[in-house]
Amino acid sequence: MARFTLNGKAQEVDVDPGTPLLWVLREQVGLTGTKYGCGIAQCGACTVHIDGEAVRSCSLPASEAEGKQVTTIEGLAQNGVLHRVQKAWLDHDVPQCGYCQTGMIMAVAALLRSKPRPSDADIDANITNICRCGTYHQVRAAIHAAAASA
Ligand code: FES
Ligand code: FES
Repeated sequence: MARFTLNGKAQEVDVDPGTPLLWVLREQVGLTGTKYGCGIAQCGACTVHIDGEAVRSCSLPASEAEGKQVTTIEGLAQNGVLHRVQKAWLDHDVPQCGYCQTGMIMAVAALLRSKPRPSDADIDANITNICRCGTYHQVRAAIHAAAASA
């Protein structure tokens, strides 16, 4: 059993505590915005927030979320208003195939919480998500735009 708050609502799921959080979210809860890429904490496609921090949910046992606030891409917009990172992504036409993008957006949203005006070096150090479509240039531009829009 795992109990946590998911996108603002209490969630209780009957799973082995060692089940990766990614599969709890996708299979048990049915929130499929969080993606599976590598399964070994390398690509970032599975990034969600736990208590506001970016984590790679493919490699995090559900037990680690116990009692915590979990936010997925489905919970990033508030009251029907897109998060400023989502807005910047639209303005800059960032996604190509889109597969990596929910994890990328979640990683960036967490970065801007801890570093409201990240430098290029901050971005390089913190946004290590892999994009097979090579959207890195647009990602960087959109991060700076989102930071400036705060
Ligand atoms: S699927 Fe989790 S980091 Fe790649
Ligand atoms: S947009 Fe296709 S993998 Fe990143």
